[in-house]
Amino acid sequence: MVARELVRSMRVFGAVQGLRVMRSAWRRRRTDARDLPPRGPERARVPGTVTGVEPQPGGGTVRFTRAVLQVRVTAGGTVFWGWDGAGPEPSYALGGAPPAPDPRAVLEPDKDGGWRIVAKRVTVAVSRTGGVEVLTPGGVVLRRDLPPRWWEPAGGGPVRWIQRTEVAADARFFGLGGRSAGPRLRDGTYRLWNTDPRGRFGPGDDPLYITMPVQLVVADAGTHLAFLDNTWEGAVALREGEEGAGSGHDRPGTIEVRMAGGPLRCWVVVGTPARVLRGWTALTGAPALPPSWALGPQHARWGFGSAQEVRRVVAGYRERGLPLAALHLDIDHYDGHRVFTVDRVRFPDLPGLAEELRDGGVRLVSIVDPAVKAEPGNAVYDSGVRVGAFVRDGRGREVRGVVWPGECVFPDYTDPGVREWWGGWYEERLAQGFSGVWHDMNEPVSFVPFGDMTLPRSSRHSLEGRGGDHREAHNVYGLAMARAGYEALRRLLPDERPFLFSRSGWAGMQRYGGTWSGDVATGWPGLRASLSLVLGLGLCGVPYSGPDVGGFDGNPSPELYLRWFQLGAYLPLFRTHAAVDAGRREPWEFGPQVLGHAKAVLLERERLRPYFVTLAHLARLTGAPYVRPLWWGAPGDRALRDCEDAFLLGDAYLVAPVMEAGADRRAVRLPRGRWYDTVSGEAHEGPGQVLLHAPLSRIPVLVRAGAVVPVRGADGGTELEVWPPVPGRTGGGFVVEDGGGRREGGSVRPRVERYASKWVGGRVVVERVVGGGAVPPERPVRVRAGGGS
Ligand code: GLC
Repeated sequence: MVARELVRSMRVFGAVQGLRVMRSAWRRRRTDARDLPPRGPERARVPGTVTGVEPQPGGGTVRFTRAVLQVRVTAGGTVFWGWDGAGPEPSYALGGAPPAPDPRAVLEPDKDGGWRIVAKRVTVAVSRTGGVEVLTPGGVVLRRDLPPRWWEPAGGGPVRWIQRTEVAADARFFGLGGRSAGPRLRDGTYRLWNTDPRGRFGPGDDPLYITMPVQLVVADAGTHLAFLDNTWEGAVALREGEEGAGSGHDRPGTIEVRMAGGPLRCWVVVGTPARVLRGWTALTGAPALPPSWALGPQHARWGFGSAQEVRRVVAGYRERGLPLAALHLDIDHYDGHRVFTVDRVRFPDLPGLAEELRDGGVRLVSIVDPAVKAEPGNAVYDSGVRVGAFVRDGRGREVRGVVWPGECVFPDYTDPGVREWWGGWYEERLAQGFSGVWHDMNEPVSFVPFGDMTLPRSSRHSLEGRGGDHREAHNVYGLAMARAGYEALRRLLPDERPFLFSRSGWAGMQRYGGTWSGDVATGWPGLRASLSLVLGLGLCGVPYSGPDVGGFDGNPSPELYLRWFQLGAYLPLFRTHAAVDAGRREPWEFGPQVLGHAKAVLLERERLRPYFVTLAHLARLTGAPYVRPLWWGAPGDRALRDCEDAFLLGDAYLVAPVMEAGADRRAVRLPRGRWYDTVSGEAHEGPGQVLLHAPLSRIPVLVRAGAVVPVRGADGGTELEVWPPVPGRTGGGFVVEDGGGRREGGSVRPRVERYASKWVGGRVVVERVVGGGAVPPERPVRVRAGGGS
């Protein structure tokens, strides 16, 4: 066994690193065996029966023979409950103080010895034995949580628990963070443990880098989001229900959550999908607004190799008239892969290069890995040692692992002082001329040839001073690192909006930035997985993300590359990227035909920049993701609920990417209303399905009748592109002005312009809606699809 592991490790990681990795794996095993004693006998517990209640604002405390439940409805209609003293805080997910209770919610006796809280938007019923039901004001059950069960180790230690929930037989499941097999989550077990899938993943791989105990449930009865605020390792088993299953009765859908420790507490947000996401972001914080350049096309590669290579690629874009907003430098620009250093042979004057590129409109973005090479003389290591920044084991020794630079240590970002220390290093990145950061390997990864590629579970963490181990801190490691980076950039560049995106994260990560797909495998299944991730994360409140266009590894065929590019152009983060040993990903590397079509969609993306900027602001203001499932406005439409191969981009567009080889047309499911093909202008009526042309030159993109879309005009200004409403109906849209990269924090509300479109005397007219009235728009208006002037 050991010999086999060693051979494998040397094959995968190379001889020297392979030995290190093996040693690290054995060390991890030993540390955990020593510091995490096996669980002894356990005692199972259920709540028992109600013994009394105490009303409190928004709800009350219900006592059972063997447990206590605190339930409340907040002023916004969001529900909270916690067992055995678990309150909303402390929490890594919440964006601020927990919402205030609804003073008008009343606690009253319910049938069969239970209690219920009746509020305007929701009713919560607590059964005599500790079940919790969330109902609509009309009395329809949205979810039924059965009494939980706990397992308490006799000798003390974390209490395991299980929570089983029933939902409507027609319900569909979404969320749980970034899942490659979605966006609709089929029957199966989904782990809650942020994981690097070892270099590449496809739709079958789970879990991935971002897991979250966030369930988004869509049923005829309504939409709701349930969040079990617990960072420990766990698993969620989903099983869709069946209507008329046995002797005509419905079998409910079930969700079974098992956690290895931590509090049992739950938030539930109910309403339309838009309301649910608004409530969720009110709870966990508004998404950071990316600078507007981060909504333009970006190009990355592991292995650019040198300043000359970077110049060659940027010149390649420029010479061919291809827009490019940012270029990303991966670990190969570091000196020996050490974070916060530069290889001065290959990049002799990085600040100069950055300035030169910036003058040409291209920003530089830097990868930032958490692992610090454990080597005296390495300034980051030495200063970290001085402030006690690194994760330690139960005996107080630095936990060592192996990552790109070799033997490494890991900052404990769950310690506020460490976040501050780490953030100080971002000054070095800014001095090198970087405009943004790309956090990677922060699950965190420590290479091992077998088992979980992460730190020993017994590793100690500060957890904001409370103290705890890696079992509790693991899932929030990336989130806490993002906080460190974001707060540092705000501190260092107070007038600019930080650009940060992070491979790993957890509920609430949107406060600090976005994310990307990670190492998605090159192939048609990987292309599908990329869309699944973006849609699923958006529904968990993380609106800014996108895939490695072209796939991370290997060589995409020209067709696959182009189809990926055409999808990526309509996703928030539009970035080509690939591994060091993968083929090229520049648009001109796939022949003149691909180049021509890629150029067309790049230019279209740039034309839509004002729309993307508007979507970014709207995501910040309302929590609505830019990229939404087709059922967003019609969760009751079952056919839309099951449609996974197309998406809405804001309110205006429906994008239908081509995700299979050889296709030159594709079926597209339409929500209700009239939809125009943006290229031919042809109108299609929904709901229903249409077969559309999808030649290599483009993927079908439809626009909703009546839409008013801000686009970049020929003079570079923003103009309004209007698509005629259905006669007798109105349409509309928003424009949010952008101050470029400048900061627009919580207190400064950006100016939101609202427009309405309608037919007046045979002409399409656009008006700006101000207060109760309407005024002519100050921006140029262009009517599309033959709707008059
Ligand atoms: C990880 C990242 C990938 C990056 C590579 C080298 O695999 O996911 O994007 O290129 O590390 O830094």
